[in-house]
Amino acid sequence: MRKYPKKIKIIRKALELQKFSKKMLGQGKSIGLVPTMGALHKGHIHLVETSAKNNDVTIVSIFINPTQFGANEDFAKYPRRLQADAKLCAEAGANIVFAPEPKEMYPQPLQTYVRNAELENVYCGKWRPGHFAGVLSVVAKLLNIALPSRAYFGEKDFQQLHVIRKMVFDLNFPVKVIGVKTIREKNGLAMSSRNEYMSLKEREAASSIYAGLMEAKKMYERGIDSVVKLKGIVEKKIKQAGGKIQYVEIANKNDLQPIKTKVSKNAVILLACHFGKTRLIDHLEFF
Ligand code: PAJ
Repeated sequence: MRKYPKKIKIIRKALELQKFSKKMLGQGKSIGLVPTMGALHKGHIHLVETSAKNNDVTIVSIFINPTQFGANEDFAKYPRRLQADAKLCAEAGANIVFAPEPKEMYPQPLQTYVRNAELENVYCGKWRPGHFAGVLSVVAKLLNIALPSRAYFGEKDFQQLHVIRKMVFDLNFPVKVIGVKTIREKNGLAMSSRNEYMSLKEREAASSIYAGLMEAKKMYERGIDSVVKLKGIVEKKIKQAGGKIQYVEIANKNDLQPIKTKVSKNAVILLACHFGKTRLIDHLEFF
């Protein structure tokens, strides 16, 4: 890690970033893109460091994308702190922060969306109508603006990473998508910008999510392969700690198709729940 933050440039205009990236690519340089919504924590920073290690230039986009928030969600109160975020990006080895205003990204309302017709209404998509169309469309725009050789996304948002990979594959985007492992708090809670909505007590209670997932994994390793039983273990742990479950599902991690009866290879548990008013997601791969 560098001792002093190196200089970082904040670019606000799409055309300016696109020109910069074309110039870098023309010089034979590789570009890594880390799309974020800011309020950066160690999970984001791990993505930035991974990109900085493997690319000549690293661009971090910080854009709280209105089109992926539902009407009753937290768009207005989502934490905003660009200067502090830019400093963290510099320390992690990024070269550019792309921080457009909503008007810059959406000078006109979108009429053209990227959607995953099959997966947009399941798991998180079932509870957040329109969310994945918003995510895929903004990621498509960011890829076209930043022109990265590699783009970095967290496994933490497991369904998001999956639909982004599928978009890039289906639509021949010339970029390599890199999935990066989930960074957790000491108590197991997956780091998230939304964790700061919670009280200390809620944060502690929310550690039951990871504890439940680990217990299910342990039971699976002891020979329990019933989907109902394994889901039940996770649900019980979260409920006992005061969490409210939206869904706990088990799916094949390669295509996200649900597994209904018996868990076998390549399974992943996906879940969303609330502690207080805060919505949290997590997952655990069995293999
Ligand atoms: P955001 O929630 O800010 O997350 C930005 C990236 O950081 C995502 O790829 C996410 O999976 C990753 N990330 C978040 N928490 C992490 C953790 N604890 N460990 C590792 N990686 C983590 O996800 C979004 O923004 C948006 O939907 C976006 C892709 C930027 C599109 O608007």
